[in-house]
Amino acid sequence: MPVKLAPSILACDFTRLGDEVSAIASAEYIHVDVMDGLFVPNISFGVPILAATRRAAAPGQFVDVHLMIERPERYLADFAAAGADGLTVHVESTPHLHRAVQMIRGLGKRAGVVLNPGTALETLRPVLNDVDLVLIMSVNPGFGGQSFLPQSLERVRTVRGWLNELGSAAELEVDGGVSAENARALADAGATVLVAGSSVFGAESAAAGLAKLRAALTQ
Ligand code: DX5
Ligand code: ZN
Repeated sequence: MPVKLAPSILACDFTRLGDEVSAIASAEYIHVDVMDGLFVPNISFGVPILAATRRAAAPGQFVDVHLMIERPERYLADFAAAGADGLTVHVESTPHLHRAVQMIRGLGKRAGVVLNPGTALETLRPVLNDVDLVLIMSVNPGFGGQSFLPQSLERVRTVRGWLNELGSAAELEVDGGVSAENARALADAGATVLVAGSSVFGAESAAAGLAKLRAALTQ
């Protein structure tokens, strides 16, 4: 299976949101970073921007919502109604991780769990059989444009091993500092979805940024 690309609209020009989303129509996923200023030291956007992104997305594009918010279970139904295909919650953001995962599936959406770089991978184990996606943060969440943390590669390899042992078809996504320089290594480590903010929207054009990532993956 070819690796899927998930451009993060956090890095796009919000004055032209519709055009920016159209420019990434060839990407399999659209990554939507929701930040509340509590779980992470930054506030991004919420439900109305998700709804607008959904409207601008190409048919069949997977709208991948990364919730960097405290107690995400409070808002899962709202984000589902606004057009998310998948909702990903941080293991650090709720004492009721399993309940949050059940709620997402109950809403008919794909359930994801995500870990910060400083969180033990073992915290994933109890829910690993119940999720559709695991996201490994390769930067500390809160901001685009940070440098990839190299220890993330080994974390991806470990989770890939666990998913294979379970026979799980869950996606394994990586987020933060992904570029043409590390994309191939991440794919080789077992990642199936790569989030890319600045390496797509910071390129000469989003199309050129996507093409560069795809070329790096097929080398
Ligand atoms: C960081 C966000 C990322 C961010 C990635 O908190 O979760 O999705 O947009 O941006 P880059 O690719 O620039 O590191
Ligand atoms: Zn993200």
